[in-house]
Amino acid sequence: MKPDTISNDCQLDSSGQLIHLLGLKDLPKQHLENILDRADGLLGDNGGLKKSKALKGMSVANLFFEPSTRTRNTFEIAAKRSSANTINVDLENSATKKNETLMDTMQTLKAMQIDMFIIRHKKNGLPHHVAENIEGVAIINAGDGINAHPTQALLDMLTIRQYKKSFENLSVAIVGDVRHSRVARSGIHALKTLGTKDIRLIAPAYLLYKKTTSPDLERFDNLEKGLEGVDIIMSLRLQKERMVAAEIPNEKNYFENYGITNETLKLAKPDAIVMHPGPVNRGIEVDSSVADGPQSVILKQVTNGIAVRMAAMEVLAGAL
Ligand code: NCD
Repeated sequence: MKPDTISNDCQLDSSGQLIHLLGLKDLPKQHLENILDRADGLLGDNGGLKKSKALKGMSVANLFFEPSTRTRNTFEIAAKRSSANTINVDLENSATKKNETLMDTMQTLKAMQIDMFIIRHKKNGLPHHVAENIEGVAIINAGDGINAHPTQALLDMLTIRQYKKSFENLSVAIVGDVRHSRVARSGIHALKTLGTKDIRLIAPAYLLYKKTTSPDLERFDNLEKGLEGVDIIMSLRLQKERMVAAEIPNEKNYFENYGITNETLKLAKPDAIVMHPGPVNRGIEVDSSVADGPQSVILKQVTNGIAVRMAAMEVLAGAL
């Protein structure tokens, strides 16, 4: 399924309440801001994280069919800090390997009284399919193919809000493998909902969307031009696992043309921040001196991910 054709309608019930978190396309601003505000409330003044009892007595299952370090672990930490029981389903050794259908696995987990499924899958729209076919379980999309990664975009928005006054006047540069990036797709939806009008997509043409229908999106194949005066640089990983062999760029050339270095960073505003969802390929997407430098907020994003995931789970738990 193509990302544009996937509907998130079933994440809201008939009264407009959020019952699943599948994607940010068409998610009303009030829902988005509600999660960010709650996440803010979970962060203490010194950046520490509070604990909550919001999910007491509930069980959350992590169902990661694709590799993950920060997303899977921060979901687990977030669920635990919210007082839930958590299980990491061992999919390598699960019955899906014995040809059980995915829906049978899901129904089996539901019968184990699990309240929330956190799903990552390489297939676009897979969490949506589960949400449409199972009742009484809240689904959070932790990344489906190239389609959406809503909690990543929310943690990115929370991070931006901590450094910048408003979204309306921001210039945001999304640099790298935009075409294969669910992070970029969800990030663009979130930025637009929050009012950002200058969103620049910077990459070689074959890593950009073939066409953009939105007037707020400008495409650049020249890094220097695209970075001029931006407030935010969002660097993306080269997702080789989603490319055919002929598309994989030469890493040295790519870094020379699109790598964020101290030199290219100077083209952005002096107070610009550098973000990356991770995992970072140092010396390919971002130079180490930038990744570890004063303008990098990459580790801050990780901590914010826990707060945002706690907030999203709290909202969905309230609707169960
Ligand atoms: C991203 C993902 O999996 O979509 N990573 C993440 O969630 N932290 C981006 C990526 O893998 O490049």
